[in-house]
Amino acid sequence: VKVAVFASGKGSNFQAMLDADNLPCEIVLLVCDQQQAGVLDKAKQHGIETFVFSAKNYESKEAYESEIAEQLRKKGIEWIFLAGYMRLIGPTLLEAYEGKIVNIHPSYLPAFPGKDAIGQAFEAGVEETGVTVHFIDEGMDTGPIIEQVAVPILANDTKETLQKRIQAVEHRLYPQVIRELIQK
Ligand code: GRF
Repeated sequence: VKVAVFASGKGSNFQAMLDADNLPCEIVLLVCDQQQAGVLDKAKQHGIETFVFSAKNYESKEAYESEIAEQLRKKGIEWIFLAGYMRLIGPTLLEAYEGKIVNIHPSYLPAFPGKDAIGQAFEAGVEETGVTVHFIDEGMDTGPIIEQVAVPILANDTKETLQKRIQAVEHRLYPQVIRELIQK
């Protein structure tokens, strides 16, 4: 089964997928909208093809998503896994990959959607946050939830220590959910 990962950041989740044992899929393409993203080096090290684009060079979301969809089709890609791709997915990709686009978000949704979910939870002073893997719809972190794990916020946590624990959970959870989804 061929899959694509969309990521724009440092790529620790992408790395976790590459490191995962017996993932029943092949990551054949990394889609990235940031020319300087750390995740690009990781793809290069593993010989994974990349499609890097700048949204500002396109007239619309539809324009760049059509080009992405074309790349995916050409490569026979069946699933899209988002891992720190900081753009909303539009109708072009949603229709082409209905029920096949999955995201990981660092909170226990529906709490703390959107940017800096870890910072939001930390500032809110709640006792617990978490990690969610969910299907994508047109909203911001609103699609049907597949799997969630709670992560306690400890009395002596800083935002950094909390982030470390959340990311450790992400790196374990995402490959596990991907395995289950694809084997279904
Ligand atoms: C992760 O926390 C993920 O949940 C969120 O973006 C972050 C990406 O981190 N959607 P990385 O680039 O995988 O290290």
